[in-house]
Formats: sequence, C-alpha cells, structure tokens
Amino acid sequence: MDRRKFIKYTSGTIVIAGITYYLTSDTFNFERADLDEIEKTKIPMQSDEMEILILASLAPSGHNTQPWFVKYHEPFHWTICNDKMRWLDGVDPMQRETILSIGAFLQNLEYAANNLGYSCEFNLLATTNQDEEIINVKLSKALNIQKFEIEKIRHRRTLRSHYLDKTISREDLDYVSEDETDFIRYYPNTSKEHLYLNEQTIEANRLQSYRDAAQTELANWIRFSNEDVEKYQDGLTPASMEIMGISGWIVRNFYDTQSVMKKDFREKSIAQVIEQVSQSAGWLVITSRDNSVLSLLDAGRRLQRIWLKVRDRNIAIHPMTQILEEEKTKTAVDNGIGIKENIQFLLRVGYVENYPEPVTLRRHINLFVNN
Ligand SMILES: Cc1cc2nc3c(=O)[nH]c(=O)nc-3n(C[C@H](O)[C@H](O)[C@H](O)COP(=O)(O)O)c2cc1C
Repeated sequence: MDRRKFIKYTSGTIVIAGITYYLTSDTFNFERADLDEIEKTKIPMQSDEMEILILASLAPSGHNTQPWFVKYHEPFHWTICNDKMRWLDGVDPMQRETILSIGAFLQNLEYAANNLGYSCEFNLLATTNQDEEIINVKLSKALNIQKFEIEKIRHRRTLRSHYLDKTISREDLDYVSEDETDFIRYYPNTSKEHLYLNEQTIEANRLQSYRDAAQTELANWIRFSNEDVEKYQDGLTPASMEIMGISGWIVRNFYDTQSVMKKDFREKSIAQVIEQVSQSAGWLVITSRDNSVLSLLDAGRRLQRIWLKVRDRNIAIHPMTQILEEEKTKTAVDNGIGIKENIQFLLRVGYVENYPEPVTLRRHINLFVNN
C-alpha cells in the first residue's frame, strides 16, 4: 500500500470509528416525553386515584428530589409522607424546602381531585418538618366542585434561560397574584430591591459552589447519562439544566459526579447565575405568616397556584433559593429588601417568547405509593 492510500485508509477508519462511537453514545437528552405510558400499579387502584396521584407528583421540588411518598390505606384515603431518604441536608438542613415541595404536591392533588369531581378533606398530622406522616387525605364525590384545567399541571415547568427584560404588566400581575396579595411581593427590574437580590444571589451561589457539602449533594442529584435519567426518574438532568446541542452531548457522555467538584464546573455555574440574573422582569417573593408546618405547606401551595397560572401569560419562573440557604445572605435579606414576613421563595420571573414543554422526570407511581 503506498503512503497516500494508507493515509486515505486510516483516516477513513478513524471517521468510521468516530461515527460508531457517536452512535453508541448518548446522542439525545432523555426527557419526560420519552417515558413509557404507565399501565399498571402494584397496588390495585382505581383509575381516578392513579390520575390524581400522578398529577400530584408533577409538583416542583428542590433538585427534583420528589421528597414525598404516599401510604395507601383504602380507596381514596391516603397519608402523604415525607421521604427522609430524599432530604437535602447540605442546603436544606431544617427540611423547610421539603415541606414547601410537599405543599406544592398537595395543591396539584387537590386540583386534580376537583377536576374529577372529588372534594378533599385534609387532616394535618405533622408538627415538625421532620415528621414522616405529614397529612391525611380523604376524597369524596361532591356536587358543584369547581373544575381545574389539569393540562396546566402537565405543562408547568421551571425555565431558566432566554428571559426578556420587559417588566410584568399590572394586568398580568393582578391575574397571577389574585387572592394571594398578602403573601406576594413583586420587585420589578427597575427597583433597588431587584438589584440587591441579584447581587446577593450571585454572592450566595459563589458561597454555595465552594461549600463542599452543598456541592457534593448537588453532584449526587445530577443524572448525567440517559441510563441514569431513565433509571432514577428524578434529579437534575442535562435537559432540565437546559444544556442542549453539542454541550449536552459532552455533558451526557463525559461528565460525572467528580466533574461537579472541579473548579471549572463551579466557576461556570457562577458565571451562568450572573448571566441569568441579568435577564428578568424582576423578582417575585413569596412569604408566609410563620414557619410552622402548616404555613410552609400553605406557602408551597401558593407557589403552585401561581406557577399554574403564569404560562397563560408567557411568564416563566425560576426559583433561586441560594440566598435562603447560605447563612450570611439569609440573615441579611430581610433588611436588604425591607421585609418583615418570613420569606419562603425567591423567584426570578420574566416573559419568554418560547415556552418549551416540561422535560423533568417523575418517579413511577409504583415507586412512591405503598401500603
Ligand atoms: C423548594 C424549591 C426550591 C428550588 N430551588 C431551586 C433553585 O435554587 N435553583 C433552581 O434552578 N431551581 C430550583 N427549584 C426548581 C426545581 O429544580 C424544579 O422544580 C425541579 O427540577 C423539577 O423541574 P420542573 O419544575 O420543571 O418540573 C426549586 C424548586 C422548589 C420547589
């Protein structure tokens, strides 16, 4: 074989090997739409129960841990529980965010039940954020129940990029915060509070990125490969972190928990936060009367009621919780924006032109309902 033929032959082999490698790698982001339809539950359950519990589980949660499970007592009688294995001790040592997430779950549950003509009777059981049994719920058929458009639950999602700078109009703000005005504040991107929350969010993310307990926990909840995404059906995925195209391919195939601990990853995350806070309509702050279990559940429900409305107005929500998770920024924030109530959520909000469908996964109903 002469030299020219040899080079042609070997480069051809390299190209074929490259294509073969690419095709056997994770070439796409595994998303919610790629999951198979749920056919059967291990506990015999009526189809209405199944629909209500699946819709409830589409609630948001920090790192998408889905910190709930359901004890099934009898048809339409369940206890909603707190799953200790899914706590985020590194960023949420008092399980405040766990209870907020369970609150969002309860709101979805009630809306989904109402849609099928059931009313819910709730009976609070927990007195601390660490109690396993949170709330008992019984559903019964009732007349004149106001239906809820459950497609809103299916289409709700967290969106983190491409926010426009336009502030929220009075009309949209009224629509979103209707009947909730006591516990919601909006700081438009023209206000000094907005600037303060931007700066503190960057600072809190800087502190958190270099706090190894928080960073290790984050690493453990990122599902890099499609295999892990499909296996665990929880956590943060490349699609949910909006890492697409060639970057998505690199992250899916070459990143692992060790990568998250590297300086380069930490610095890139901080740079991303700087970019994110530079685009928004401002901040929406959700507060609560106090920090009791009931008030936290209510704040989680409030978040969900608002979140289920915003898509109607092309408004996206991005909870950025780090200020409340880092001691230094947490103790300063109330004075910083002049708030006396208890802050439970700091939400970056903004209009978007394109509102993609949800991509995060939820655990199969068999994995969170048992008896
Ligand atoms: C209590 C709570 C805290 C959250 N904190 C953050 C946060 O700090 N940063 C972030 O990007 N998303 C945050 N989120 C959003 C979750 O990551 C998101 O809900 C989860 O990944 C599921 O995705 P989905 O909302 O699109 O269904 C938070 C959500 C909740 C309920």
